[in-house]
Amino acid sequence: MFTRRHIISTREFTKEEIDYILSRAEALEPYARGAKRSDALAGKILTNLFYEPSTRTRLSFEVAMKRLGGEVINVSTPEMSSAAKGENLVDTLRVVSQYCDIIALRHPKEGASRLAASFSPVPIINAGDGAGQHPTQTLLDLYTIKKEHLLDSLRIALIGDLKYGRTVHSLAYALALYGATLFFVAPEALRMPEEIKMDLREAGADIFEATEINEVIREINVLYVTRIQRERFPDPTEYSKVAGTYRVTGELLKENESVIIMHPLPKLDEIDPALDQAKQARYFIQAFYGIPVRMAVLSILLERA
Ligand code: NCD
Repeated sequence: MFTRRHIISTREFTKEEIDYILSRAEALEPYARGAKRSDALAGKILTNLFYEPSTRTRLSFEVAMKRLGGEVINVSTPEMSSAAKGENLVDTLRVVSQYCDIIALRHPKEGASRLAASFSPVPIINAGDGAGQHPTQTLLDLYTIKKEHLLDSLRIALIGDLKYGRTVHSLAYALALYGATLFFVAPEALRMPEEIKMDLREAGADIFEATEINEVIREINVLYVTRIQRERFPDPTEYSKVAGTYRVTGELLKENESVIIMHPLPKLDEIDPALDQAKQARYFIQAFYGIPVRMAVLSILLERA
């Protein structure tokens, strides 16, 4: 069913593989909540090798491994590791991969995980590579949507930084597999890259583009909001031109009361905090789902390793 050794990009997934991971995640939910105990991964070690800031991704990989009885070592402050002495990623990987059974890698350079996977003897999970991909985020996003019974009738708006946002790049490819109708809503400067749109159209996806949420709010059942990726802007003045250009408010939701709101987090000012308690908000439970989903991914890859 699941044939991949590494998890690098959602472009490599089949729908059957994703469905399989999501069903494994569902079965693991009581373990993710701590209601049941498992030592399925006892004796296994995960390295979290993170060259960029992270809260949810790193912690939920760690919790996922621990809830399955495994252990975790962390390089989450590269300035405290040999990277600060100038060691390159390849050398670091060659060494770290001898210390553990699986590696979750986050790196500012697009393609870093693919490079790592090309020589790593242990499975690599891409936990975010620059503006590239973030496949386990996509899996937990899909899991959240599945929990709402919307996966087969999905009309979703991806809003925000569609240019630099790796979560939306990853997610869009997977959504195409489910026949979702996609609405890309972004300021002109942050539109979804042409090559991704071309790939999606080739995969048969229905894509609509807009610059304002108001234009699409009545058409959708999921609103997926993203943060402007300030750290990826080559020029800070370009960031200041687009900062604060969109915001989801209660006023907007009056146009569509049944839409659910998702966000990979962290959020800044793109969602009115008054909505955090609204019946439409799913972003905090979405972050929890990172645990059963990453438990599923770790189990599957380590069973095969
Ligand atoms: C995202 C990321 O790192 O790409 N965060 C996450 O993993 N939940 C989104 C972001 O940083 O905006």
